[in-house]
Amino acid sequence: MTSHSDSYVRIFDTTLRDGEQSPGASMNLEEKLRIAQLLEEMGVDIIEAGFAIASNGDFQAVNEIAKIVKTSTVCSLARAAAKDIDRAGEALKPAARPRIHTFIATSPLHMRVKLQMEPDAVLEAVHSSVGRARNICEDVEWSAEDATRSEIDFLCRAVETAIRAGATTINLPDTVGYTTPAEYGAMFRTIIERVPDADKAIFSTHCHNDLGLAVANSLAGVEAGVRQVECTVNGIGERAGNAAMEEVVMALRTRRDAMPYETGIATEEIMRASRLVSAITGFTVQNNKAIVGANAFAHESGIHQDGMLKSSETYEIMTPESVGLSKSSLVMGKHSGRHAFAEKLRELGYELGPNAFEDSFRRFKELADNKKQIFDADIVALVDDEVVSEHNRIRVVSLKIACGTEGPQEANLVLSVDGQVKGAEVIGNGPVDATFNAIKKILDMTPHLQLFQVHAVTQGTDAQAEVTVRLEEDGKTVNGQGAHEDTMVAAARAYVNAVNKLLVKREKTAPGDALSA
Ligand code: KIV
Ligand code: ZN
Repeated sequence: MTSHSDSYVRIFDTTLRDGEQSPGASMNLEEKLRIAQLLEEMGVDIIEAGFAIASNGDFQAVNEIAKIVKTSTVCSLARAAAKDIDRAGEALKPAARPRIHTFIATSPLHMRVKLQMEPDAVLEAVHSSVGRARNICEDVEWSAEDATRSEIDFLCRAVETAIRAGATTINLPDTVGYTTPAEYGAMFRTIIERVPDADKAIFSTHCHNDLGLAVANSLAGVEAGVRQVECTVNGIGERAGNAAMEEVVMALRTRRDAMPYETGIATEEIMRASRLVSAITGFTVQNNKAIVGANAFAHESGIHQDGMLKSSETYEIMTPESVGLSKSSLVMGKHSGRHAFAEKLRELGYELGPNAFEDSFRRFKELADNKKQIFDADIVALVDDEVVSEHNRIRVVSLKIACGTEGPQEANLVLSVDGQVKGAEVIGNGPVDATFNAIKKILDMTPHLQLFQVHAVTQGTDAQAEVTVRLEEDGKTVNGQGAHEDTMVAAARAYVNAVNKLLVKREKTAPGDALSA
């Protein structure tokens, strides 16, 4: 394992595991690889790539990520069961730096109701699971699920058992987002003080955000001696999400005077990571979200603008550049060529492969022919749309709609399905209904539409529309996004994008309750 100074805080990113467990967020293999690559580039110490036993798709994701990631540690989650641990070990075989992360619940409620195990049997399971993982891999993390609602004496015994069995990292999650900063910090201080050989392991936080305290709790853990923080990009995750990586990292960087710790994160990559995760999951970032929200560095009130003109320090505690937002210099229009477009993408924090670049450039030219002014938001919307649909099995080829006061409204739609062109002409109660009915007819699916949301990317009647669609099928939900200057095309692209995600979900075997950690 890499040695670091005492003040170094390891960043453990679980966007691809806990983040993917958020209702609606599912990612295909290419998308996961792309995110993993970016996490490595930005200096994430440990990437939790998935839960190998949960499905073949999860196994493959861990395995493929293990093949390409070289500098970050790649980790798979596993319950305290031999088959889980072996499967995690198998998936991690190609990894340069593998880690098995095994967990079991330690709170009285979880042990009695969920596990139906006596405390001594739980301790035995800790011992055997960590021991088994250590026989496969030198780097083993053990987590006490629901640690913050566990009895402290029992938690001390469980942590001691895990360290004796060879765990190198001890994670004490606030699984239900229940703790407070003072309480969480005190819990770590007690454990670190009371458990023999506590100094042989790195302690870790893992905080959920049910009370909006995930980041504050994580930082309290750091102040109490923890040197690993588990978090996700944009704070996505189960229910209210996990601690947001960008907030933890920027808090530590900006307030080094109050919290003298450092991370290895290249903070200038934060916006790129935020945009990529938002585009892939279909989870838009709220405007006032700390660090990465559209308004995080915007100043509108006269007093603030006046102060900013005199010195940016009057109202900015960190620079936009430090999170990867560069002051826009290039104005784009229909005469802008490839080079200018590539430069603009770099400015906006994108790095596209050759196909995605060509497709985005073609769409930019089409847009520039029809729209007077091209804003950065236009480019972000169309590039995100390309990123999202690049590896989709189903794509929109063309759409024609007849609509107006005289019904019925009719959609004539052509899709490409695994490379095969299929079409349908369908009527509906309005153009949206007709379009979605056409998609359902071609694909022979009937998912339930839970959300249909349209927003204009910029001002003006020629603005692009960005549509978000949420679909539900057999209790599984997915979000899809699409952008286009024609609102109905954007709607069709969003629906088709969501359907692609449903197909990914279908491929996963039903994981059962115990598999959602
Ligand atoms: O929230 C939780 O307890 C978890 C563990 C599996 C680490 O995600
Ligand atoms: Zn969690």
